[in-house]
Amino acid sequence: MIKFIDDLGIEGKRVFLRVDFNVPLDEKGEITDDNRIRAAIPTIRHAIERGARLLVASHLGRPKGEKRPEFSLAPAAKRLSELIGKEVQMAPDCIGDDVKKMALELKDGQILMLENLRFYKGETENDPAFADELASLCEVYVNDAFAVSHRAHASVVGVPERVSSCGAGFLMKKEITYFQKAMKDPERPFLAILGGAKVSSKLGAIENILPKVDILIIGGAMANTFLKAKGVAVGKSLVEDDLIETARDILKKAEDSSTEVILPVDVVVADDLSSDASYVEVNLDSIPTDKMIVDVGSKTLDRYIEAVKKAKTIVWNGPVGAFELEPFSKGTFGLAKAVGSSPALSIIGGGDTGAAIKKAGEADNVSYISTGGGAFLRLLEGKELPGFKALEKCGK
Ligand code: 3PG
Repeated sequence: MIKFIDDLGIEGKRVFLRVDFNVPLDEKGEITDDNRIRAAIPTIRHAIERGARLLVASHLGRPKGEKRPEFSLAPAAKRLSELIGKEVQMAPDCIGDDVKKMALELKDGQILMLENLRFYKGETENDPAFADELASLCEVYVNDAFAVSHRAHASVVGVPERVSSCGAGFLMKKEITYFQKAMKDPERPFLAILGGAKVSSKLGAIENILPKVDILIIGGAMANTFLKAKGVAVGKSLVEDDLIETARDILKKAEDSSTEVILPVDVVVADDLSSDASYVEVNLDSIPTDKMIVDVGSKTLDRYIEAVKKAKTIVWNGPVGAFELEPFSKGTFGLAKAVGSSPALSIIGGGDTGAAIKKAGEADNVSYISTGGGAFLRLLEGKELPGFKALEKCGK
């Protein structure tokens, strides 16, 4: 059983709070989306109100063990301070004597943000010596970093192995609650929408979810492999030829089950993936050999909208077209509008899908946008996340 922060004795204790402040920055180093920082605030407020001495730890990007200033968490510390209206001290590092001194000098309710954990290879390698150093900073461990809980990194699994009192934060609780609401006992019809570029990255999710849902939309470039498996000539579209057999097997399984699989029936094709490329909407039997599929067509979108209207539970991971380029965004945004207008419980996987929902102006109209990209996908695959497992085992 996972404990939550409100079950832990944190008053006057040094609490290592693992958050995911892996936020996007522009070329000037300004945060362009602070949602992940905002999402951790309920836990941070709770901790400081109860007099915890808070060590906030995160990664940012993939600096691969090098101290690269463009990956500093200083902008995140500044934004956190602005959002909560309280000083957030910035540590010069995440381990070492100076950091330890700052941690020991913290008073009740004060916050110290540690520097990027991935400035050390020990983080991603879950190196025991690195995990020892991190654990030596604290008395209590709290994980509120859902988005990185699929990684068996030192701050996710190593530290809770070394600390006797651990639990999850309120963001973790929210993520688990929404996901379980959809997956454990969904109100039916249950619709899953799986899109994105590659079948290979979604294979586990497709296989796990197919028997659980009533309708499965397979969209995005990933649908090309399925179309080719059905004998459609897809021009120069992205296809994973080594997965055509697998795609065929999945379609066969779906035919033998009661799950309805919706593949594109028409598509938008373009010369290449650029916003000034010429493009046209065509039926599946007329895809030119020198063009690539970049979005779904209007008949397909109508089918999607019909499916969304029927559904009482919707889980969506992966866009259905190259929505980042305005001319190819109609399918994804049209679907986002339909999901936003639906009264169904709608749960959106983070990463690209969350960005698409926000860009379509539907962020406030869906039930929940997960902060996790990869972590959300792992849950869709039916896998247990290492971060959850570590919390369950902690103190045993
Ligand atoms: C994410 O953005 O999905 C998480 O922060 C994990 O980042 P990673 O894929 O670099 O481990």
